[in-house]
Amino acid sequence: MKVIVTGGAGYKGTVLTKRLLDAGYDVTLLDNFMYGYEPVMHLATNKKLNIVRHDIRNGIPGMKDYDVIFHLAGISGFPACASNPHSAQLINVEAVRQIANDLAPGQMLINASTTSMYGKSGEACDETTPVDPVSTYAQTKYAAEQILHEKPNVISLRFATVFGFSTRMRMDLMINDFVYKAIKERVIVLFDSFAKRTFIHVEDAADCYIFAMRNFDAMKGGIFNAGGNSLNFSKEEVAEKIRKKVDFSIINSEVRDKDLRHFIVNFDRIEKLGYKPQKSIEDGVDELIRIYGFYEYYSHYRTI
Ligand SMILES: NC(=O)c1ccc[n+]([C@@H]2O[C@H](COP(=O)([O-])OP(=O)(O)OC[C@H]3O[C@@H](n4cnc5c(N)ncnc54)[C@H](O)[C@@H]3O)[C@@H](O)[C@H]2O)c1
Repeated sequence: MKVIVTGGAGYKGTVLTKRLLDAGYDVTLLDNFMYGYEPVMHLATNKKLNIVRHDIRNGIPGMKDYDVIFHLAGISGFPACASNPHSAQLINVEAVRQIANDLAPGQMLINASTTSMYGKSGEACDETTPVDPVSTYAQTKYAAEQILHEKPNVISLRFATVFGFSTRMRMDLMINDFVYKAIKERVIVLFDSFAKRTFIHVEDAADCYIFAMRNFDAMKGGIFNAGGNSLNFSKEEVAEKIRKKVDFSIINSEVRDKDLRHFIVNFDRIEKLGYKPQKSIEDGVDELIRIYGFYEYYSHYRTI
């Protein structure tokens, strides 16, 4: 099978690409490398890997040649989309329109979607719950789902917030950010500490994409929350889990979070098919503590 990972140089894409190569697949990694080349250099000598530098706004070159398209490229997360709404619309929505147009009936497309679209109700949400996308990020990701699911051969995985180590670290992700602040600054300021979110380790997320590819016939046409029922926690609960391992202070701010998300996500649909994440928050915190022991984060990586 010929497989392409768009956004393959990203936080999730680098981990997914490595796992696909380790499993023996021939992989094309497509990215515009907006965060540089370093995240993929450890993979670059692998003969099963073809690296293409390309902007997804011009579609996927030779798209008809691929059996499986993992579509991850995009402007990802609340901060990046809030500071670049125009790019978010062009890349997260308009580029997807082109990919949907080019998708042939025999191909498999697995779309990186997000639980962020469940909004701020605080309610338990499954895939039938009406969405309430409160940020530009969530709005563009929901629009992309709607465009892609006009075709039957698409699966959307609505991922929980990812955590853990990747060669392209994302420090805007909650657990990655909290552990860093706990270690380096010895203080975390919580905005809306009650707000519930849902989480998944980056390696489990990569396995979930591969699970969807291997179970494509059972899942095609479907939208699936991608995470685990045991991984829903409030911000305060996450901070307390970190505090069991690192000594730091928590300050509860009166100021409301600009990112208003607050929801509990139900993952029964994908669990019933046999997918369950393996790693806990504690596993990820241990891993991050080890890495942040030598890692310094420079803020120029934060902006696009
Ligand atoms: N990380 C999470 O918590 C999370 C949760 C839910 C869904 N997602 C989705 O998963 C996907 C990957 O997220 P991520 O965390 O790896 O983000 P990321 O920002 O690390 O990766 C996105 C990749 O897309 C590339 N890209 C951006 N614009 C491009 C363009 N015009 N052409 C080609 N490549 C382009 C970037 O260079 C980057 O390598 C995104 O679609 C995101 O919305 C992520």
